[in-house]
Order: sequence, then structure tokens, then C-alpha cells
Amino acid sequence: MDKIEQDRLKKEVAEKAADMVKSGMILGVGTGSTVAFFIDALGKRKDEDGLKLKAIVTTSNRSKKQLEGLGFKVSELADIDQADLTVDGSDRVADNLDGIKGGGGALTLEKNVAINSKKIVWIVDESKLVHRLSGFPLPVEVLPISCEQNFRRFEQEGLKPQWRMDGDKRYITHYGNYIIDLAADPVPAPHGLADYLDHTVGVVEHGLFLDMCDEVIIAHSDGTIEDKI
Ligand code: 5RP
Repeated sequence: MDKIEQDRLKKEVAEKAADMVKSGMILGVGTGSTVAFFIDALGKRKDEDGLKLKAIVTTSNRSKKQLEGLGFKVSELADIDQADLTVDGSDRVADNLDGIKGGGGALTLEKNVAINSKKIVWIVDESKLVHRLSGFPLPVEVLPISCEQNFRRFEQEGLKPQWRMDGDKRYITHYGNYIIDLAADPVPAPHGLADYLDHTVGVVEHGLFLDMCDEVIIAHSDGTIEDKI
């Protein structure tokens, strides 16, 4: 699929998700190129349908800037209790709606917003669909203090770690940490791996989003939109 076609699908699915948003909601807004189309569609609904949200929280400075540019006030997660709905993209979605996220480096905020939402909807084009989690490196955000040890630990576990780079420097997250992308593909035993990472000191968060997503809206290149629950 070329980029023009993929962007067309991303826009379609983003507009569909924007129709799910109701005035009075507390809305969580994710990060990424698909979400950027969703934010545009939200702006359109605000101007054309008078959409008025109770609050919006978001998962990156990029999305925050775009939302504010369209006249939305963005709150901190700490200022709300729970979002009614969070709409986000995903890098891979398996048959059981488990996902790999964090391609844009925003996994920690994304998981924190997701877990504090009543409903989580992912919007994707069909290229993100897989039977089991595979085809995309698994991001792991690590504290700089013990990152070298954790990198070696992942090597010894056969997880094929690679530093995420930003030019010739290590990529730095919103929280001042590094990202190690695990290239083990397919993701071996996702729940076991998530458990291992959750219990590794120095790992801040990882991109395995398991048993979290309630609904995935998928744009297919044949023009259909599929809703998976
Ligand atoms: C960012 C994410 C994004 O949701 C994911 O990378 C999908 O992005 P895109 O819509 O650009 O393909 O997890 O950390």
C-alpha cells in the first residue's frame, strides 16, 4: 500500500471514530499519524456540530499542540478521574485485540491514559492487522540509570534489543528516558514477556497493550470499515 492510499484509509477511520465522540465526554486522545487525522476531524465537529467536551487529555506534546491549535483546552491526566473514551492508533493489532504500541515513542503516557479510560478504541488501517503479535519491534522505555544492564539482559534473553535512535543520539522520551526496541519477532508469549518486563527494575513501560482494547475500527483498502469488538 502506498502512503497516499494509507493516509486515505487513516483519514476514513479517524472520521468514523470522531463520530463516536459525544458532547460532555471526557476524551483521551492518543498519538500518531492516524490520531492526527482524528484530531482534525474533532476540530471539524467542534466547528460544524458544536461538539463541546467536558475535558480532553492527551498522550504527547504533538497531539496537545494540534488540539490546542484547533481551540481545544487540554487537561493533565492528574486533573481528571477517568476518560469516558480514549481513541488511539496502534502499530499492530492481533486477532484477540492485543496490540503493540509505542512506534511514536509515547507508550508510557498512552498506557497511563488507556488504563484510566472506560473505553479504549483503536483506529488503524488494514496494514496493522496480524494474527499474533509480530511484524513490529516492541518498544521498551528504560531509565537511563540501568539501561546498559537491561540492554545486556535483553540480549541474553534472546530478545534482540536495539537502541531507538534520533539521528546519531539515543531517542529521548517525554520523561527523559531511552527506548530499547526488541526485535524478537513474533513476540514470544506476550503475557509472559509483559510479566517479565513489568518485573524488570529500570523498565518504565513497554509497548505490549494486552487485554486493554475494547474496540478496533479498521479501514480496508476495498473501501469497507470494519468494527471489531
Ligand atoms: C505512538 C503510537 C501510535 O499510536 C502508533 O505508532 C500508530 O501510529 P500511526 O497512526 O502513525 O501509524 O503508539 O507511540
